Amino acid sequence: MKIAVAGGTGVAGRRVVEALIAAAHEPVVLARSTGVDVLTGAGLDAALAGVDAVVDATNKMTTSRRTAVKFFETAGRNLTAAASRAGVGHFVTLSIVGIDRVDYGYYEGKLVQEKIVRESGLPYTILRATQFHEFADQVLKLTPGPVAFIPRMQSRTVAVSEVGQALAEIATSSPQRMVEIAGPQVESMLDLARRLVKARGAHRVVLPLWMPGSGAKAMASGGLLPTDPNSRRGRIGFDEWLATVGAPSAP
Ligand SMILES: NC(=O)c1ccc[n+]([C@@H]2O[C@H](COP(=O)([O-])OP(=O)(O)OC[C@H]3O[C@@H](n4cnc5c(N)ncnc54)[C@H](OP(=O)(O)O)[C@@H]3O)[C@@H](O)[C@H]2O)c1
Repeated sequence: MKIAVAGGTGVAGRRVVEALIAAAHEPVVLARSTGVDVLTGAGLDAALAGVDAVVDATNKMTTSRRTAVKFFETAGRNLTAAASRAGVGHFVTLSIVGIDRVDYGYYEGKLVQEKIVRESGLPYTILRATQFHEFADQVLKLTPGPVAFIPRMQSRTVAVSEVGQALAEIATSSPQRMVEIAGPQVESMLDLARRLVKARGAHRVVLPLWMPGSGAKAMASGGLLPTDPNSRRGRIGFDEWLATVGAPSAP
């Protein structure tokens, strides 16, 4: 099958592309580096010609509610409209477990993205994943310098390779509306960031980031953990992932 992967150059999107190739499907990468901009719509129609399904793994790293909503609303509307014009049979969106239980600016953007897909008229699946094992590294990069600040958060972090595999399987199967995927163990994000820094032998102090409001409390007390007993479970834990990737990209 021919599957478009929007954000196919990103942390998750790359893994979807790899899994599709491994299963002898034909991925089409939609990213600015391949001449497609989901915000302006440039290149979208040409890229979606003859495509069977679309996976949306685009992202904008931000803590701003306004920026997140603007990005996911514009990208979501452009992508679903182009997918409808192209007669795509399945639209798959990568989202996050627990975003409706935790009031946080970025998650509001993700909720808008999900709503657009649900109301698009396209056959769809929303895959809600927990934070990737890579998430601690993504947050560490936001605060460079000798002291890093990490939000208090409980998460069943999951290997992004397993999320990519799940997205490739979903995109090449029948639409399922909503599916969740989570990793094998509940972890503290602060602890994961400290383990990552230690594994790198880096000289950085990792401190909890104080955040106001009910969203921060919900994050710290398990609001981002899956509640569905039937959620897909990844097999690879954080330590196994860390041993395999070898503490990538020094902070
Ligand atoms: N990180 C996590 O722990 C986690 C957990 C669960 C779910 N998710 C969700 O997974 C999705 C992907 O996250 P990620 O961390 O893999 O993202 P990422 O590494 O930041 O990659 C973002 C991708 O989006 C593309 N992109 C950004 N702006 C674009 C534009 N205007 N036009 C076309 N492409 C654009 C980028 O390509 P170019 O820059 O080349 O354009 C890149 O391929 C997000 O929606 C996120 O909410 C993430």
